[in-house]
Amino acid sequence: MSKYAVIGYGVVGSGTVELFEKNRDSITNKIGRDVKLGYILDLRDFPDSPYGNIHTKDFNDILNDPEVEAVAEVIGGIHPSFEFTKQLLQKGKSVVTSNKELVAQKGAELFEVARKNNANYLFEASVGGGIPIIRPLHKCLAGNKIEQISGILNGTTNFILTKMIKDQMSFSDALRLAQENGFAEADPTADIEGHDACRKICILASLALGKQIYPEDAYCEGISKITPEDVEYARNAGYKIKLIGSAYPTEGGKLSVTVCPRLIPEDNLLSHVDGVYNAISVTGNGVGDVVFYGQGAGKLPTASAVVGDLIDALLHRERPLTVSWEKSDGENLISDYKQSKTAAFIKVSVKGDADEARESISKTFDHPMFIERQNRPDSEVAFITAPMKEILIDQKLGLLDENIEILNLIRVL
Ligand code: HSE
Repeated sequence: MSKYAVIGYGVVGSGTVELFEKNRDSITNKIGRDVKLGYILDLRDFPDSPYGNIHTKDFNDILNDPEVEAVAEVIGGIHPSFEFTKQLLQKGKSVVTSNKELVAQKGAELFEVARKNNANYLFEASVGGGIPIIRPLHKCLAGNKIEQISGILNGTTNFILTKMIKDQMSFSDALRLAQENGFAEADPTADIEGHDACRKICILASLALGKQIYPEDAYCEGISKITPEDVEYARNAGYKIKLIGSAYPTEGGKLSVTVCPRLIPEDNLLSHVDGVYNAISVTGNGVGDVVFYGQGAGKLPTASAVVGDLIDALLHRERPLTVSWEKSDGENLISDYKQSKTAAFIKVSVKGDADEARESISKTFDHPMFIERQNRPDSEVAFITAPMKEILIDQKLGLLDENIEILNLIRVL
């Protein structure tokens, strides 16, 4: 009898078991044989679980059972996920995962272990929750040169920003709601500070380039500095603020890979992607623009991608799928983001005369667009610059009078 196992019985793990067992009949037809739920590994007790004797706290139960063919690793983090995954692959068992941290950091190494041991290592759930993006990018768009990938890659921050924009909710109330809904990471800092979105854009960039792109090499900024006042300024100028991950080749032959909040014009599709939804836009030199849209986090949407991978792994046990990239250790693949061109929303606080400050800003930035908001204090000035290299924006800010203090800078898409 063939078995599958699940490591981690949190939101995604319990969703995986629920979806697989709910759709067992159709899944069995697709695989062409019966595959039983063999083990659920978690250190916690689940006294009310209907899968009583299947729960285990011992990883060796899964590792040493020759009937286990495919394992869903959904615990997240690097350790012990890496060690578990490596050992399972070395035994020829396929592993599927939603663990973007592990794939973004150790993907190339684990693909090699999988290849050597004739096993699948699949990670559709690691980017975009339930949205199919890994296979389409790797297979269906394989005939294209990828010119850019960009989008909203984190459900929690998009949920928070949507609540701030639409319901005037505070940042902390919106975060609490996202956590209650099971969207956020165990430590939501990874969501709020952009690290989760950064891991995801690095996975997509690695796939497009064929080489490992490490998150620590990319520019990453989260949404924790965004205030309700910024949201209001953006609205008054015809924009919404979204956390955007983006990757594209630059002239120097390197990749620009960034994650940061951006002002999105209201006529841009991404500005209408709300709540926990993610949207990923890909441009290929044959296909043009394609957009992938769906629920980017949550129990059953993420489980949908994990179960899809389990089915594929069980179907391809003889000839594993190769959705992968190579190692890149020591290579410098990422360009300096300061050389990229962008317009920027800038909010400053003025100690002296606000009119004089506006004049100085106008001269330095060559006709910026000043923006208003209700109840703006006299000492606050906000404006949007023309597009220019970021390094030039820095230089111009450095030229402003010392009575002008920079409060926030948000790039414009
Ligand atoms: N915390 C992640 C998010 C979960 O909010 O998008 C899905 O990767």
